[in-house]
Amino acid sequence: MPVAAPAPAPPRDYRAEFPIFRHAIYLNSCSLGALSARSRARVTECLDLWEARGAAAWYDTWWAALAELRSRYARWIGAPEGSVALHPSISAALAAVAGSLDYGRRPRVVVTSLDFPTVAYQWLARAGEGVELVIVESPDGISVPVEAIARAIDDHTAIVATSHVWYATGAIQDVRAVADAAHRHGALLLVDGYQAAGQLPVDVRALDVDFYCSGGLKWMLGGAGVAFMYARPDLLPGLAPRASGWFAHRDQFRFDPRSLELHDDARRLEAGTPPLLPVYAQLGGLDLLEELGDVEIRRRTMALAEDLIEQARAAGLRPRVAAAPGSRTAIVMLPSADPAAAVRRLAAAGIVADSRPGHVRISPYFYNLPDDHRAAIEQLTRDQ
Ligand SMILES: Cc1ncc(COP(=O)(O)O)c(C=O)c1O
Repeated sequence: MPVAAPAPAPPRDYRAEFPIFRHAIYLNSCSLGALSARSRARVTECLDLWEARGAAAWYDTWWAALAELRSRYARWIGAPEGSVALHPSISAALAAVAGSLDYGRRPRVVVTSLDFPTVAYQWLARAGEGVELVIVESPDGISVPVEAIARAIDDHTAIVATSHVWYATGAIQDVRAVADAAHRHGALLLVDGYQAAGQLPVDVRALDVDFYCSGGLKWMLGGAGVAFMYARPDLLPGLAPRASGWFAHRDQFRFDPRSLELHDDARRLEAGTPPLLPVYAQLGGLDLLEELGDVEIRRRTMALAEDLIEQARAAGLRPRVAAAPGSRTAIVMLPSADPAAAVRRLAAAGIVADSRPGHVRISPYFYNLPDDHRAAIEQLTRDQ
């Protein structure tokens, strides 16, 4: 008699790693990922070092933690060693790229109306350098057709800067098609992956992007204060940001104010001392992500997103999401007459969600359960 295959091990209870679930239902990971016990433990470790050893910890511990984080971020997005720079925010990471380009012959920058506004702001702030911003509109408020982006790109385009996952609708953009459209005209492509990395497997080489940024705040579980920018290695020698600092210097401890010699690797895009506590929080968050793996996280979040959409529809709500399930992520917008009030009532019931104009935004992650959706939808429909 054949021996029956052992039953698959039950999934580890990752929910227990996130103490917020002891007193609340957390459904707002696209604003801020929940704090894990592992991130807290790593931050405590950093505080203990600071308390016990002060600056002495730089030399044998903290310096290595920065290098470790650059490497682990790079591995997470399929990037080679040395192609990732640390930054304190996405805006700072974008500014390093925006301040490295020459807009003389190519003054145009293409963005979409659905990208997080801080993307456009980087280049609006450079209007004085002759930068012209081209905004491609969304016909349905959910996504932007790649053909419309392609039509906006021409031989005067320096860079296309857009999202991997649009923050308000959760729709996934066909980044590879946008890269092909940009490269046909000799333009670069920068992708803001703040709503993607963590939620979705990311392979910057397969996507053929020139720049890709993300960070801890949301799906990478590192909290506020730590972000990164990937730059395609062959572009690095030509990148010299017009705002810089000593961490970009290839020999920063020479303390020579007379010459700025930049690192050969992506650290040439960095500026000042990286924030250590967020770096430690992110190392703890990465432990969890790496343990689960990007494919498993996507499998879980996709199932949760479909469950949420199904439950919402069954309750008579009409979620505003991409038509094709494969283009959706775990950011689900539910129309609401007064979203701020609905979010306040959810909060009073111990459910953390968010609002955007005309919608309540719910974003589950691998630590959520279908019961969380049930509780949120019951509360929302009770309000109507
Ligand atoms: C897609 C996206 N990009 C950028 C940002 C802002 O990033 P930062 O505050 O780090 O500049 C957000 C929201 O926080 C976002 O959702």
